[in-house]
Amino acid sequence: MADSKSASRTLKPSTLMMGHGYDPALSEGSLKPPIFLTSTFAFENAAAGKRHFEGITGKRPGGADGLVYSRFNGPNQEILEDRLSIWDGAEDALCFSSGMTAICVLMLTYCAAGDVIIHSGPLYAATEGFVAKTLAKFGVSYIDFPAGASREELDDVIARARAQAADQGGKLAMIYLESPGNPTNALVDIEAVSAARDAALGADHACPIAIDNTFLGPLWQRPLDHGADIVVYSLTKYVGGHSDLVAGSVAGAKKWIDPVRMLRNTMGGIADPNTAWMLLRSLETVELRMSRAGENAAKVCAFLKGHPKIERLGYLGMIDDARQQDIYDRHCTGAGSTFSVFIKGGEAECFRFLDALRIAKLAVSLGGTETLASHPASMTHLSVPDPRKVSLGISDNLVRISIGIEDADDLIADFEQALDAV
Ligand SMILES: Cc1ncc(COP(=O)(O)O)c(C=O)c1O
Repeated sequence: MADSKSASRTLKPSTLMMGHGYDPALSEGSLKPPIFLTSTFAFENAAAGKRHFEGITGKRPGGADGLVYSRFNGPNQEILEDRLSIWDGAEDALCFSSGMTAICVLMLTYCAAGDVIIHSGPLYAATEGFVAKTLAKFGVSYIDFPAGASREELDDVIARARAQAADQGGKLAMIYLESPGNPTNALVDIEAVSAARDAALGADHACPIAIDNTFLGPLWQRPLDHGADIVVYSLTKYVGGHSDLVAGSVAGAKKWIDPVRMLRNTMGGIADPNTAWMLLRSLETVELRMSRAGENAAKVCAFLKGHPKIERLGYLGMIDDARQQDIYDRHCTGAGSTFSVFIKGGEAECFRFLDALRIAKLAVSLGGTETLASHPASMTHLSVPDPRKVSLGISDNLVRISIGIEDADDLIADFEQALDAV
């Protein structure tokens, strides 16, 4: 088994992705982990079975100390969770059947009737919908703030949320961030959110800061280093990276993750063994893929920037706002490969551009090996009410592009001919 320390060296994540958490000797010497297709695991003896269930049910702290039943966990998922933890510097991680399952189970874990969630805006539309519609049915309300909010604005939001919670007989349950936000790429100042939370609630609080790091993680932003407590992913995107699976995860300190595990044990929603195995394969190349996609995006954006049919770009490598640039400099180590292009005109011009693309595919999602383009206002964010779309900058002339690992010059030629058709 590859350990995270080898002699005097602390091994880097890209090295650890090849073997960490797996011992071939336990699987007939198989170099790669087999896919464990089983619904249940045989106990050594009855006492071991009792001990496992004491851990699963929380009668004994520390969780199960072995494998029990595949709704709770399995070897492929455990290896995956160990490797996911490494990228974010987390103590523990949990994998889920989708990013949305991860987000819903996380929020249900921390919210009770009367509670308030604070969240940044914009969020992925299904996340916003879950907070505004589903949690509302259980008496949980929310207050949102714009992604670039200053410390003063954050202090104010937290004070209002606490007052609202007091009125409802609940508490401030969670601060939920998405940074950069989908689809505008607006960044949240995680350090300021953390400082504002700590100033308001003190050291002993039960209000975690969770952040959806799907757009930049795990390579270009490590939110736990900047004061977040729980990092959330749609693994469907860069981590899976080949547009051939759907999965999600949460990671953080055990004290934050254990309660989420308890609810996952009850509800299910864990990633299946085959998907976990595919994600292990994906993690071996995640750094290579993301690096190449990031380089390609920089070249494509350099071309698009000066184009007469483009109004502006929402690309983190070309920020034109001092506050956003300051957040980027403190939090991010790369600009990513997903960005927005504001085409001169509106929906009709965007549709002509999208329909003319030959290499880039017209599809929602992002972070795959292939380049994708979509129109958020009429697709992923169609359900967002119009006034909110306007306030969040999700305009009719916004096209979202996720750059893949193709040849950069081929991509530029494709965008050039598609813009000619606008
Ligand atoms: C930022 C972000 N978070 C969460 C999700 C939901 O993830 P999934 O589709 O894996 O459920 C998405 C999906 O597009 C996303 O873009």
